[in-house]
Amino acid sequence: MDRIRIVGGRPLRGRIAISGAKNAALPLMTAALLTDEPLILENVPRLTDVRTLGRLLAELGMGFDMEELPRGADGSGGDRMRLSAANITSTTASYELVSKMRASFWVLGPLVARFGEAKVSLPGGCAIGARPVDLYIKGLEKMGCEIDLAEGYVIARAPKGGLKGAVIRSPLVSVGATHTLMMAATLANGVTVLENAAREPEVADLADCLNAMGAKIEGAGTSSIRIEGVKKLGGTTHHVLPDRIETGSYAMAAAMTGGEVTLTGTRPDTIEAALTVMRAAGVEARVKGDEITVRRNGSRLQAVDVVTQVYPGFPTDLQAQFMALMTLAEGDTEITETIFENRFMHVQELARVGANISLHGDKAIVHGVEKLKGAPVMASDLRASAALIIAGLAAEGETIINRVYHLDRGFERIEDKLGLCGADIQRLSN
Ligand code: EPZ
Repeated sequence: MDRIRIVGGRPLRGRIAISGAKNAALPLMTAALLTDEPLILENVPRLTDVRTLGRLLAELGMGFDMEELPRGADGSGGDRMRLSAANITSTTASYELVSKMRASFWVLGPLVARFGEAKVSLPGGCAIGARPVDLYIKGLEKMGCEIDLAEGYVIARAPKGGLKGAVIRSPLVSVGATHTLMMAATLANGVTVLENAAREPEVADLADCLNAMGAKIEGAGTSSIRIEGVKKLGGTTHHVLPDRIETGSYAMAAAMTGGEVTLTGTRPDTIEAALTVMRAAGVEARVKGDEITVRRNGSRLQAVDVVTQVYPGFPTDLQAQFMALMTLAEGDTEITETIFENRFMHVQELARVGANISLHGDKAIVHGVEKLKGAPVMASDLRASAALIIAGLAAEGETIINRVYHLDRGFERIEDKLGLCGADIQRLSN
């Protein structure tokens, strides 16, 4: 199993190209199920989660071609994927694949909308909380679906004549339920309105692609999305949105080590909440077009409290990385996690490199220390792995991060990108 070795203490300097967003690419791939014409995705990141979903779609009979394009010297560029759901042979998504990654569950909406039925295993994914699927089920029921739960599968059947438009008000904001119901509604009869919908940029990116395929969606990116169902969708070519979580993670890595890093090919408007918090902590972050230059010149970081929120608030997917950053800040930082109830597994690993963090329910209090010291640590989930990398980059001596497969789910060539900026980092394979 691969590990990553870092010898900390070097300030990062250089440029890092931001890849396409994992959390945009995954729902976009499932959208290909809605049409018998090809969907071409560009700027696709090379990640295991993308491959896992590709395998699941291929199991359903999806034609799936991945053109691995060369990356620029700075890591820029992405792959090109061609998806064709002209010959779907199965509407059953197996436990074996869905249990590996929660986003696979999102095939439920497009399958039931286009084929009138779907049998999808209940999901797995990162162990960051209970993560139920009640909102998906209630939403589809409102659209006329009959839903059964049997042997760990959700079995959905659309009414004769297809799904019906409905007004669906969600009691809480869910990114995945918004993706799923929005996709389902594109082929429903009549108008669907999703109230209290997720406003995440990845939802807007999916809606842009669906509209280019012929859907009639208004309001994506706001909390009320109106979808007028159409009879059929067609193919298109879509460029995947840059990854705001990768952007924020490298911004925090740069801030942690001092030095100066320019993040290129990103969408600074999607990461404003994190930049605001980082500036309050004493980090300089300058935005110019699609670039962000992050700099910290020697002065100590200041503690800044953070509460994770749905977009446009501070993202839960950057909570672990920000906690790593605050381990070296002056003063105490209170970090409140409101989205997932079990997303503090990185706390005990950060303690292994010398962080001083106490846990109180949904709050972590980080008592800033003067320095961290390298140690062997274990990645527990995707974003926690990034937090350990950030800590390792600043820790004195050697940090070995085990279970790197978590990292490969969501960060393309992390050791190459950091290495280009002067980090002493390498992957150990055995
Ligand atoms: C998406 O997960 C992301 N995954 C997550 O990123 C991200 O952390 C999360 O949104 C929140 O921003 C992808 O985009 C692939 P939710 P999702 O439904 O859609 C509860 C990463 O590291 N809920 O918005 O699964 C749920 O338990 C990953 O890249 C219900 O109660 O998240 C959670 O507490 C991890 N019932 C909250 O809503 C439901 O039916 C928000 O979850 C659905 C969700």
